[in-house]
Amino acid sequence: MNKRKILVPLGNKSYAVKIEAGILNNISTELLKIGIKSNRKILVISNEEISNLYIEEFLKDLKGSNFEAQICLIKAGESHKNLETLSEIYNVAFEFGLDRNSLMIALGGGIVGDITGLAAATWLRGIEYIQIPTTLLSMVDSSVGGKTAVNHPKGKNLIGAFHQPKAVFIDPETLKTLPKREFNAGMAEVIKYGVIKDKSLFEFLENEKNKNKLTNLENKSLIKIINNSIKTKSHIVSEDEKEHGIRAILNYGHSFGHVIENLCGYGEFLHGEAISIGMKIAGDIALEKGLWSKEESTRQENLIESYGLPTQIPKINKENILTILMGDKKVRNGKMRFILPKGIGEVDIYEDIEDALFLKYFS
Ligand SMILES: NC(=O)c1ccc[n+]([C@@H]2O[C@H](COP(=O)([O-])OP(=O)(O)OC[C@H]3O[C@@H](n4cnc5c(N)ncnc54)[C@H](O)[C@@H]3O)[C@@H](O)[C@H]2O)c1
Ligand SMILES: [Zn+2]
Repeated sequence: MNKRKILVPLGNKSYAVKIEAGILNNISTELLKIGIKSNRKILVISNEEISNLYIEEFLKDLKGSNFEAQICLIKAGESHKNLETLSEIYNVAFEFGLDRNSLMIALGGGIVGDITGLAAATWLRGIEYIQIPTTLLSMVDSSVGGKTAVNHPKGKNLIGAFHQPKAVFIDPETLKTLPKREFNAGMAEVIKYGVIKDKSLFEFLENEKNKNKLTNLENKSLIKIINNSIKTKSHIVSEDEKEHGIRAILNYGHSFGHVIENLCGYGEFLHGEAISIGMKIAGDIALEKGLWSKEESTRQENLIESYGLPTQIPKINKENILTILMGDKKVRNGKMRFILPKGIGEVDIYEDIEDALFLKYFS
């Protein structure tokens, strides 16, 4: 199939995710289809890199249907996902006269998506917004689920809100311009969905022919893995929108991933690379605890490596690991909570994992 549509069922906050090659240049039709009329102002938030590639055609399409759109470009990079940039967006929103009936559109990766979501959640106490993710990571993860945030000097994503988008439009064609390293990093999240809940996706990714197709960015295979990933995320989010329970399994590989991101300095590893190592550590602990077999653990490791992702644990200062894990928002009541695999396609949340069990993986 060359296009897919997934519904994220969240009562009156439900929305559709449409995946289709070429949809980016047909957004005005999509907006009209979901009832967004052309008398509503649109603030498109993006960055220079993405806008150089895509904004011209995008605006032409919007203007062709008489939408009044203004662009707001933010600086790329995690260090600019902060309150200052958010404030710059508010300035543009004010100048443009963005009212309650207006709309924001995020055109970009997870950084643009997260900050646009928070801007939309807070401008005039909340307006609607649309996600148009352009990295694999943002397609399969951050654009769906309604978590929005900016960073604080004390930590990542500390300031945020839950604010679901009105719709998500995904054009796999945009992956053709994405740097290979960023693409691979997104694959880490796709592999994650395979391990936590979707054995058939895991097996699809293991198949050599499929690997080739994905590496060559064949739309049909891309649409399949994006669709499978979002279905899993949508299912989990609709059960537990605000992460009181089951949603935590989406953080598989992330506790150790955050340790690595944090202690190696943000920038050394991309997020997907850090969680690849995190998944490998979780896999080793699960093996040691007898939760899954050596064969399953090796399959996970091989799959991660076959998509050009790291599994080697970097040298990091052991003393800081616990501090970071305890400060992690995933740690509750002072106990170490980890998501560990019980088999390919199944994970569980484990409380009270002893320090010694995981500290030994770090030198
Ligand atoms: N809200 C959530 O649930 C959630 C989930 C996971 C990650 N995140 C957040 O997502 C962010 C990471 O997102 P990301 O990995 O998409 O990184 P990103 O947004 O920084 O994008 C990566 C790089 O690729 C460029 N780029 C984007 N699309 C492109 C394209 N089609 N062609 C060429 N270049 C392109 C960007 O300009 C940027 O330089 C982090 O801040 C993380 O906290 C949020
Ligand atoms: Zn992640």
